[in-house]
Amino acid sequence: MVELRLPKNSRVEKGKTHKGEVKDASKVRKFNIYRYNPEDENNPRLDTFEIDVSIHGPMVLDVLLNIKASVDSTLTFRRSCREGICGSCAMNINGTNTLACTAHIDDLKGDISIFPLPHMEVVKDLVPDMNNFYAQYESIEPWIKTDSSSGSSKERLQSIEDREKLDGLYECILCACCSTSCPSYWWNGDKYLGPATLLQSYRWIIDSRDESTGERLDDLEDSFKLYRCHTIMNCTNTCPKGLNPAKAIGNIKKLMLERDGV
Ligand code: SF4
Ligand code: SF4
Ligand code: FES
Repeated sequence: MVELRLPKNSRVEKGKTHKGEVKDASKVRKFNIYRYNPEDENNPRLDTFEIDVSIHGPMVLDVLLNIKASVDSTLTFRRSCREGICGSCAMNINGTNTLACTAHIDDLKGDISIFPLPHMEVVKDLVPDMNNFYAQYESIEPWIKTDSSSGSSKERLQSIEDREKLDGLYECILCACCSTSCPSYWWNGDKYLGPATLLQSYRWIIDSRDESTGERLDDLEDSFKLYRCHTIMNCTNTCPKGLNPAKAIGNIKKLMLERDGV
């Protein structure tokens, strides 16, 4: 008989309730937040924080910062820019992978549940282990590769039309919301590159200044790296920057077919 439940020591238990400062009781919202500390023997737990969002908001990240500053300093999460630029505050909020700094509390219904990005090892609380994700990104060699000399010019120029081909790709902030929403990546994340890395890969494949297109496509000609995408579209639906990784993956597959003369 297949065991479909989590092992006992991974089951999420009910945690503690914490109350923040209250000025307007009608504005208190409950935030149920995943907690896990590898340094103790305890199971992960879901702590509840009752927070007056008239004082602390308007974004989910503002509430997390307030909890850390004045309610429970052990709460651990990543953040940097608080502008939707760095990608570090990606987490699962009310069932959707998104950025805490651009998730407006007023847009979230009921009690707000916050978990780390799904199907990643958890380092602590809301911090996932991104090592595999970054190693995959590095594996696609995300820089311009050339054999020819750029001549006397210091820059490699690009036409306006060729530059426009990078729109919808260069904006990717590598937050991993897409990859961690992809069922194929959940099950084969060690071998399948996932939507974020493939979108980045396409960004270099179609850059008119790059001279390694054939080599880049050769490297993706693999039953796992690229072809584990089954066009489920979770990636595109979740991207907090409104990008379309599924389309980029489709474009790589099209280029593969074209060069094979299919
Ligand atoms: S494509 Fe979107 S969701 Fe995926 S890593 Fe880039 S910005 Fe994040
Ligand atoms: S379209 Fe491909 S990459 Fe995107 S979620 Fe589906 S399987 Fe994953
Ligand atoms: S803190 Fe940088 S994207 Fe949210």
